[in-house]
Amino acid sequence: MASASLFSRLILRRMEPADISAVVEVERSAFGHNWPATAFERELTQNRMARYVVLDTGSEIAGFGGIWLMVDEAHVVTVAVPPRYRRHGLGRLIVHGLVQLAQCEGMLDATLECRVSNTAARALYARYGFYEVGLRPRYYQDTQEDAVVMTTEPLASEPYQRRLQRLEEELAVMLPGVSNRVAGCCVPAAGRG
Ligand SMILES: CC(C)(COP(=O)(O)OP(=O)(O)OC[C@H]1O[C@@H](n2cnc3c(N)ncnc32)[C@H](O)[C@@H]1OP(=O)(O)O)[C@@H](O)C(=O)NCCC(=O)NCCS
Repeated sequence: MASASLFSRLILRRMEPADISAVVEVERSAFGHNWPATAFERELTQNRMARYVVLDTGSEIAGFGGIWLMVDEAHVVTVAVPPRYRRHGLGRLIVHGLVQLAQCEGMLDATLECRVSNTAARALYARYGFYEVGLRPRYYQDTQEDAVVMTTEPLASEPYQRRLQRLEEELAVMLPGVSNRVAGCCVPAAGRG
């Protein structure tokens, strides 16, 4: 069971090469399969479009996520929280950080694909204003499952900013004392002041 004191030391920060072995373990526990460490290394060192974050408890990695910056659209590549830490708001915190990071990087909106059967992730993304715009039939090679395509309204729009503000307030209650910003990254222009 996750303890409140563990979460009180949580920091959302950019993923570093030294995190990769822990991230691979989180991915295995979250998805039951994993990218090899070399794939994460390539993402961090060679893919200039990639931005990854981790949730650091001070003693372990309690989740991670990533986006690709596709011209002016952020593509959510992955979000994962180990089973033992789920339903405490950590998924929200990661998506919150990714959305803010996307905005800091000048992205206008965000998009993603998600397995049709992944009701937890679809609900999480829906909280962050992702809505369904289409299906990619048999997108996932392992099971031939369809992907639902989801996208957001413009991130800088007033309704979206209001949504982020509300979610920020909810996060402050769920994870008191934990910053919802990616450490060391800019404050999105529309969120200043
Ligand atoms: C999806 C995932 C990241 C959610 O992480 P989490 O830390 O449990 O998420 P949170 O506690 O922040 O929950 C946020 C919202 O997601 C939704 N949600 C999360 N788990 C859910 C579940 N089992 N059933 C239905 N909705 C769920 C809810 O809307 C929830 O908000 P609420 O608690 O206010 O109702 C986690 O389940 C996971 O790692 N799954 C495996 C990997 C994966 O599928 N990643 C996404 C695809 S790339």
